[in-house]
Amino acid sequence: MKQRILFLGPPGAGKGTQAERLAASHNLLHLSTGELLRAEVAAGSALGQEAEAVMARGELVSDSLVLAIVRARLTCCSGGWLLDGFPRNLAQAEALQQLLEEIGQPIELVVLLALDDETLVERLLARGRTDDNEAVIRNRLVVYSDQTEPLIAYYRAQGLLSSVEANGTVEAIAERISAVVG
Ligand code: AP5
Ligand code: MG
Repeated sequence: MKQRILFLGPPGAGKGTQAERLAASHNLLHLSTGELLRAEVAAGSALGQEAEAVMARGELVSDSLVLAIVRARLTCCSGGWLLDGFPRNLAQAEALQQLLEEIGQPIELVVLLALDDETLVERLLARGRTDDNEAVIRNRLVVYSDQTEPLIAYYRAQGLLSSVEANGTVEAIAERISAVVG
């Protein structure tokens, strides 16, 4: 079974939903940079204040800020982990690779959750988080295709990528993910 896993995919694909389940059933550390940033915003920390407006527009928070958050948590623990929503661009992917080399914990699998834009927008509008209004969702989709989608080729070239159809029920998708995780 793979122990060090990335979940990649557009906003609304179900990364958080599926990561939570898989992390619980396989005893993995679940790190969602979005969740961690929202917790900083809620706590009103300096970091949260810096991130809040950027997140409200659906843009990416600075690489250095996100990296600091991830580094602190990955270097603490030696078990398996599941990264959700990180990396989001090539600079983050390269920084992650360097960090993982330092700590001797290479990525074993990248799961791409693939879903059409129409369904993504439907799901996010139904969820209704503060950044889930139509204009900001559209912007997040643009940011995804400009900055995050290049990671598909990056990880495919390393032989790490498995693509999973992210439509259907939560259970059906979880089964497809289990099949690639092993
Ligand atoms: P982040 O929190 O990562 O948001 P996102 O990428 O927009 O993704 P979502 O969390 O919206 O979608 P998801 O794929 O997790 O789907 P979910 O399971 O929730 O990032 C938010 C912001 O933080 C970014 O815009 C950026 O500003 C900043 N940020 C975060 N990481 C960063 C980074 N690394 N660098 C820079 N900035 C960063 O599901 C969505 C909805 O669909 C839910 O309501 C769920 O219940 C429902 N659903 C799930 N599965 C199904 C299903 N099978 N059928 C029907 N409904 C379903
Ligand atoms: Mg999420």
